[in-house]
Amino acid sequence: MSEGFIRDTLSQADTEFDVSLRPIRFEDYIGQVKVKERLALFVEAAKGRNDVLDHVLLSGPPGLGKTTLAHILAQAMEVNLKVTSGPVIDKPGDLAGLLTNMERGDILFIDEIHRMQRAVEEYLYSAMEDFVIDIMIDQGPNARSVRLNLQPFTLIGATTRSGLLTAPLRSRFGLTNRLDYYDANDLQQIILRSSRILNVDISEDGAHEIGRRARGTPRIANNLLRWVRDYAQVRAGNKIDAEVADQALSMLDIDADGLDEMDKRILDTIITKFSGGPVGLNSLAVSVGEEAGTIEEVYEPYLIQEGYLKRTAQGRVVTERSYEKFGLKPNAAQRELL
Ligand SMILES: Nc1ncnc2c1ncn2[C@@H]1O[C@H](COP(=O)(O)OP(=O)(O)OP(=O)(O)O)[C@@H](O)[C@H]1O
Ligand SMILES: [Mg+2]
Repeated sequence: MSEGFIRDTLSQADTEFDVSLRPIRFEDYIGQVKVKERLALFVEAAKGRNDVLDHVLLSGPPGLGKTTLAHILAQAMEVNLKVTSGPVIDKPGDLAGLLTNMERGDILFIDEIHRMQRAVEEYLYSAMEDFVIDIMIDQGPNARSVRLNLQPFTLIGATTRSGLLTAPLRSRFGLTNRLDYYDANDLQQIILRSSRILNVDISEDGAHEIGRRARGTPRIANNLLRWVRDYAQVRAGNKIDAEVADQALSMLDIDADGLDEMDKRILDTIITKFSGGPVGLNSLAVSVGEEAGTIEEVYEPYLIQEGYLKRTAQGRVVTERSYEKFGLKPNAAQRELL
């Protein structure tokens, strides 16, 4: 069951469990102080002018709270939120249908906006800029374009890959925010908050131990808490402290640095099979037996942030920290790459 815990947690759709722990006000949204401050000010200004909130782009690795922020913004603006995602809108008519049903000020949240089809995306430009959408009806000689006027609305786009967004789309957002990984203290606070909601008996250092090993990601922190709670119920009299958390996480093969089996397999493979790198993403994916996209979106960003891995023009290269982790010494050729 441990195999792929991180991946499964990050790639699954929001579960009921996630939803129950989702903060709905800025006050309960822990960390990301700058982003929160900016967004709160943005909301206050728009409300003060009785205006519609300008379009917002949220980017960052999976599980850091983009969807949560969209809900908070809708709540703060006191408007309706409609949630969809890029790959789901497969023709311009679908987008027109969504937009014509919105009331003034409503928020349309498009998750994975970088995966929207180009043909649909082009319709979004005039919708975002002028609140109109020109759609073609009929085909052949009868084809004509009909202009639909929309109520002013707010688009919130979320993306794990902001680099894949086209320039015209990116330029139509009034505010762009990048979410970063959370530090262990913020995650500790998130775990303590979730524990109160779930009625879990946990000590401060127990929460810190889980937070420290949650890859900087609230969604993982909450899912680890759920696992540790189960562990404590069966093995530790329903009480979580640092030692119990450690035992429970070790059982999931999440080590003291918060790396799981796949993280270690990636680093170990680069060192032993590719002599430290550089190695291309696809070769790496085949060697470790995981999809290239998953490696790139789920595993790598954290390994890079923690300084285990570097992305170079030639491919992925491990760092000194990776050798230390495995108690290895780089040879002369490998040392050249560090
Ligand atoms: N700042 C925060 N404070 C407290 N809890 C948070 C915070 N951010 C996220 N969470 C928790 O983490 C869970 C995951 O957050 P969310 O679904 O918003 O992430 P996401 O960025 O949309 O991820 P994905 O890219 O996978 O869609 C939420 O259910 C919520 O409980
Ligand atoms: Mg989301």
